[in-house]
Amino acid sequence: MNAIKVGLIGLGTVGAGTFHVLQRNQAEIRGRAGRGIEIAMVAARNPERAKAFQAIVGDGVPCVGDPQQLVANPDIDIVVELIGGIEPARSLVLQAIANGKHVVTANKALLALHGTEIFEAAREKGVVVAFEAAVAGGIPIIKALREGLTANRIEWIAGIINGTTNFILSEMRGKGLDFATVLKEAQRLGYAESDPTFDIEGVDAAHKLTLMSAIAFGVPVQFDKAHVEGISSLQATDIKYAEQLGYRIKLLGITRRRPGGIELRVHPTLIPSSRLIANVEGAMNAVVVQADAVGTTLYYGKGAGAEPTASAVVADLVDVTRLATADPDHRVPHLAFQPDAISDTPILPM
Ligand code: HSE
Repeated sequence: MNAIKVGLIGLGTVGAGTFHVLQRNQAEIRGRAGRGIEIAMVAARNPERAKAFQAIVGDGVPCVGDPQQLVANPDIDIVVELIGGIEPARSLVLQAIANGKHVVTANKALLALHGTEIFEAAREKGVVVAFEAAVAGGIPIIKALREGLTANRIEWIAGIINGTTNFILSEMRGKGLDFATVLKEAQRLGYAESDPTFDIEGVDAAHKLTLMSAIAFGVPVQFDKAHVEGISSLQATDIKYAEQLGYRIKLLGITRRRPGGIELRVHPTLIPSSRLIANVEGAMNAVVVQADAVGTTLYYGKGAGAEPTASAVVADLVDVTRLATADPDHRVPHLAFQPDAISDTPILPM
């Protein structure tokens, strides 16, 4: 069978990582997807990156400056959106869907704010929007919630889901470094958002938490109802005193069922130092899920960075390829929100 054709929008850290992982592991990926996955076109706004990419791949893969050209290309089956932010990402994703293309995205902000509109458009068009890379980088937490735990009633989820803030808190505690120095290092290492206030004010974690909550509890994506508090007001002395009392401070995202609604909150949390999650250090992520049948499960791994995030993007590409290749009458829409499953349970005010 001929390869499925992918259009890649964005050649930043994750875009380049996706290209490399697809190339390096192409034989295994072809076997698992049932056919080849081929990057057929790339769109990059940055001419330097476009030039560097073209130097590696030659003229075989066209690299365009205008992503509209890519979403309009009738040869492309799957659009991978890796530019982040709301616009033009929202318009490009909606246009790709309208053109009958499946979408893979790492864009948590876009889905947390416009997920309802995007998932509804995809459902109407019969295409899939997959977003494993949007939450907890390389940890397959969306797959775990949606598939691995599908027999369960999920009670709560608590997670360290922002690598930048966990890196900052770890370095401040372990090396006594100051906030600004560590933030700069997180930016240099490619963990931080282009606007790092999203990281340090808890917004990025709340985007991810909103998506996990929607999947776990079947509620609409409601970022505006989340309680969000970051780490920017924490002092080195807070971290030191917490440690003397036997606690670590972690920025946690917590969502849980309560009588009458769902809690959705992000804030710095004191955790006894003996707990596993208190010992998650650096830019790592960890998510604990409490569910009725399986009990407690813990998912740990790299939450940011080029190849960990690319690992999730490529996993989605394999899933979407299998789905796109299956007989349409027998497709299970496991990657998209199913409106039937969406309840009107409210998010509780904090
Ligand atoms: N800025 C994010 C983080 C990147 O630090 O976790 C991955 O979503």
